[in-house]
Amino acid sequence: MVTVRAPATSANLGSGFDVFGAALSRPADVVTVEKAAETTIEVTGVGAQYIPEDPEKNTVGAVVKALDAPARIHIDKGVRPASGLGSSAASAAGAAVALNRLYDRGLSREELVPIAAEGEAVVSGVAHSDNVAPSILGGFTVTTAEGTRSVDAAIPLVVCLPDVAVSTRDARRVVPETAPMDDLVETVGNAATLAIGMCRSDPDLVGLGMDDPVVTPERARLITGYDEVRERAFDAGATGVTVSGAGPAVIAACRDRDRRGVAAAMLDAFDGAGIEARAYQSRIGRGSTILDE
Ligand code: HSE
Repeated sequence: MVTVRAPATSANLGSGFDVFGAALSRPADVVTVEKAAETTIEVTGVGAQYIPEDPEKNTVGAVVKALDAPARIHIDKGVRPASGLGSSAASAAGAAVALNRLYDRGLSREELVPIAAEGEAVVSGVAHSDNVAPSILGGFTVTTAEGTRSVDAAIPLVVCLPDVAVSTRDARRVVPETAPMDDLVETVGNAATLAIGMCRSDPDLVGLGMDDPVVTPERARLITGYDEVRERAFDAGATGVTVSGAGPAVIAACRDRDRRGVAAAMLDAFDGAGIEARAYQSRIGRGSTILDE
């Protein structure tokens, strides 16, 4: 039996649509696997009632197939589905790391990224890796067609999750097909600023680099109270605020001393918009960790 803790993640970070990702220190899924003749999946925890246990429909089923590793699998969800926190990716990442160890497949963490990404295709229709990469590797990740690069970064974060669901499929429908050159130039500049900020563990540069004039404004419209939440987070000391992944979670970068105040301000703003929410005082964290074997 192997048990793995697989962290939630935040993709895009504003300017890095479908490219940037970050592992969050909390929340996380816990995936336990045990060899079996046929694969079965049991899901418990946050939002378990919305997750199919049929291996053909669960994100983990594709990972089992890719690794040819049938197992009895238990997923304890700490990452709510349809949250913008890489819920399906965390389960796929945890399963990939756990099954690789259970069956001694000997694949590197980097080699497991595209395998776990197959699970993403089951739920969102696209095998993108910007959530599975940080959930497996940890830190800040940059994923392109050429693979994934990662770097550890010490950046305090607040992730505020409103009690509404946004499906990745719906949130991808609002992404513009084209963008003006001025907006692209601005986005490249912001993305580069953010990447330098990560390398220097500088929350000011990371926050500055989160601005994105192309995708985020369209997605923000799907989140009731977003503008107020963003404004209040900045007032409380956030250095940058954007939609986490496909939403509805909103992520803020800040300094350690401001993290608690930023979390309270974001919760208060959602409350003012009539939306219940919870806030995770988080930071960029490590990737999937084997807890027990
Ligand atoms: N990059 C993806 C998106 C992440 O924003 O659609 C969603 O999980």
